[in-house]
Amino acid sequence: MSNPISIAVIGAGGKMGTRVSNNLAKTDHTVYYSENSPAGQARMADLGRTVTASEEAVVLADVVILAVPDLALGPVSSALVPLLRPGTVVLTLDPAAAYAGLLTTREDVVFAVAHPCHPSVFLERHTPEEYADTFGGIAAPQDVVAAIESDDDEKRAITEATICAMYAPVIDVHWVTVKQLAQLEPTLVETIACMIGALLKESLDEAINTMGVPEPAARAILLGHTQVALANSLKGDNPFSDACLIAMDYGRSNIIKEDWKKVFQDDELDKNLAAMLHLDAIKR
Ligand SMILES: NC(=O)c1ccc[n+]([C@@H]2O[C@H](COP(=O)([O-])OP(=O)(O)OC[C@H]3O[C@@H](n4cnc5c(N)ncnc54)[C@H](O)[C@@H]3O)[C@@H](O)[C@H]2O)c1
Repeated sequence: MSNPISIAVIGAGGKMGTRVSNNLAKTDHTVYYSENSPAGQARMADLGRTVTASEEAVVLADVVILAVPDLALGPVSSALVPLLRPGTVVLTLDPAAAYAGLLTTREDVVFAVAHPCHPSVFLERHTPEEYADTFGGIAAPQDVVAAIESDDDEKRAITEATICAMYAPVIDVHWVTVKQLAQLEPTLVETIACMIGALLKESLDEAINTMGVPEPAARAILLGHTQVALANSLKGDNPFSDACLIAMDYGRSNIIKEDWKKVFQDDELDKNLAAMLHLDAIKR
């Protein structure tokens, strides 16, 4: 356990706010919980957490976690950042707003972003709790990818300690730039991986509802093959069969656009982020 510090969680009654608060509450850190919606405050009351006004919490904090929706990060940071003590770390949970330049910044305040990786599909799990924890932050260990806009080793250390506590159990924190984090999330994991996950579900529905295949059969073969597809492609466990490679080529030429890798280009990332943040365009 690192030295206890003071942490403010803004948006503590939301989805991520609740998750990180559940973990921070188990530490020796002093934690202040802020939440402005009645529904979020009711969720906090159910968990026995007292609400502190954001303006009060942030001036007491060494680290301020902004667990508010990405669309609220602009107004929330403009209201709270001017109040902070010099040297405070402001931690957001997604790179979109930071990369789009929507955060109110200050020279004497350190800005960091930390996104949970979620437990790997290849994680060696041992307990029912680890198997059940697909999101992470409860029982199954996960990595975290983070970015910090400071060369100060002490600030990085308290940021890493906070990250490890709030997303626990954490295996490793991988430090990248804010731009690299935006290339990973949304592009690599939401635009591509989550989209493919949704495509698998749509394909399953097609096999069941349009083709009339019994659901247990379709689900069983899809879930097993999804593991094989990932293990063969990402871990090199086994080669795909020759016939499978022909079927994969058929799928690629019929389903994938030739220029699909453009989603990694800066201008496309900006378009994606502008849509996600409900902006006309990203202005940097
Ligand atoms: N939901 C996920 O799976 C997930 C995963 C990783 C990262 N994130 C990131 O976490 C952040 C929070 O997302 P979420 O899904 O938990 O959102 P959410 O909508 O579930 O929760 C946000 C909470 O913030 C509260 N809030 C809004 N403005 C506030 C203010 N001014 N003061 C105090 N509280 C305020 C809201 O009432 C709400 O309870 C976002 O940056 C998101 O990108 C979310």
